[in-house]
Amino acid sequence: MRMLVLGGTAFLGRAVAAEAVRRGHEVICAARGESGPVPAGAAHVVVDRNQGLGQLAGESFDAVVDLATMSVTWVRDALRDLRAGHWTFISSCSVYADHATPGSSATLPPLEDDPDAPTTSERYGSVKVASENAVRDVRGDDAFIVRAGLITGPGDKSDRFGYWPNRLSRGGRVAVPDVPGQPAQHVDARDLADWVVDCAENRTNGTFDAIGPADPLSLVLGEIAGAVAPQGTELVRIPVEVLQEHEIAPWSGPRSLPLWLPASHRALMLRDAGRALAAGLRTRPTAETAVDSLEYERGLGLDRQRRAGLPAEDEDALLTAVG
Ligand SMILES: NC(=O)c1ccc[n+]([C@@H]2O[C@H](COP(=O)([O-])OP(=O)(O)OC[C@H]3O[C@@H](n4cnc5c(N)ncnc54)[C@H](OP(=O)(O)O)[C@@H]3O)[C@@H](O)[C@H]2O)c1
Repeated sequence: MRMLVLGGTAFLGRAVAAEAVRRGHEVICAARGESGPVPAGAAHVVVDRNQGLGQLAGESFDAVVDLATMSVTWVRDALRDLRAGHWTFISSCSVYADHATPGSSATLPPLEDDPDAPTTSERYGSVKVASENAVRDVRGDDAFIVRAGLITGPGDKSDRFGYWPNRLSRGGRVAVPDVPGQPAQHVDARDLADWVVDCAENRTNGTFDAIGPADPLSLVLGEIAGAVAPQGTELVRIPVEVLQEHEIAPWSGPRSLPLWLPASHRALMLRDAGRALAAGLRTRPTAETAVDSLEYERGLGLDRQRRAGLPAEDEDALLTAVG
C-alpha cells in the first residue's frame, strides 16, 4: 500500500507512519519537519500546508491519513488535490457539545478557520466538526473519521498523562484528586496507530470514538502507581474544595492535576469505546503505557518545567492543608 500521512513528524502521526513502515508499506509523510523527523523508512516531503500541498497535488495514494489539528482549509485542500482509495481524518472527542451528560452525541456548531480568534477547546472542537463535514461532503460515507479521546504514551508533548508516572515514580506522599465517581479513559498512541493502519488496510469506514475502556480515575492512578511507584508511596486524596481554594486547575495547563475533570466535563472520559473495540481497536494495559511514558519523561528530564502538572511547592501546600 502507498500511504500518505499528512503529518508524521509528531506523536500520533509519527506512530501511524512507523507502524505502516513496519508492515512493509510505502509511506510518505508531508510536513514542514519542525516537529521532528519522520520515522526511519518513511519518505519526507517538505510541505507547509499554509501554502498548499506543493508537489503532492494531483497525486494518488492507496490511503491518506490527515492529522490536520485545527484547519478546515487544510482539510479541504487535501480533499481537492489528492486522490485516495481510503481516507482517514483524525478528529477528536472535543467535537461533542455536552461533556456533562454521558452518551450525549450532539456536536458543536461548525466553525471556519479564523487566525484572529483565540484558540479555545470549543473553537478546536468546532473546527474539527467543520473538518469532518468537509470530509463527508467529498467522500460521503466512504471515509474513516477517528474521534480520538486523550492520546497517551511516549511522544506526548502535552505533559498530561506523563505527569502521573513521573510524579508517582518519585514516591512519597502524592496528591491525587478525591473524585470517587470520576471516570478516566485514554488510548495509547501506538494502539491507535495500529488500528488506523488496520483500517486503511481493511478499508474500514465510519465515524468512531477512538478511545479505550473507561475506568474510575482512582483505579487508573492505582495502576500507574503499581507499575512505577516505589514501595511506601502514599496516594493522598485531596478534596475538590481544597484544590479549588488553592486554585489548582483540572485537566491540563500549569498548576494542574492532569486527568482530573470538573463536574461539568465528567462525560469527556466516558465515551462509548464499544464500537471502536468491536471494529478492532486493541488497547494495552495502562501499566504498560505508564512504564513507557516514564522512560519518555526521563528522556525529557523529570524536573523540567512542565506544560501540565503540579509544581512541588503547590503539592506540598496541598499535602500540608490536608494534614
Ligand atoms: N493529543 C491528544 O490527546 C489528541 C486527542 C484527540 C485528537 N487529537 C488529534 O490527533 C492529531 C494529533 O496529531 P499528532 O500527534 O501527529 O501531532 P500534532 O502535534 O497535533 O501535529 C500534527 C502534525 O501537523 C504538522 N504540521 C503542523 N503545522 C504544519 C504546517 N503548517 N504544514 C504542514 N504540516 C504541519 C506537524 O508537523 P511539522 O511541525 O513538522 O510541520 C505534525 O506532524 C491531531 O489531529 C489532533 O487534533 C489529539
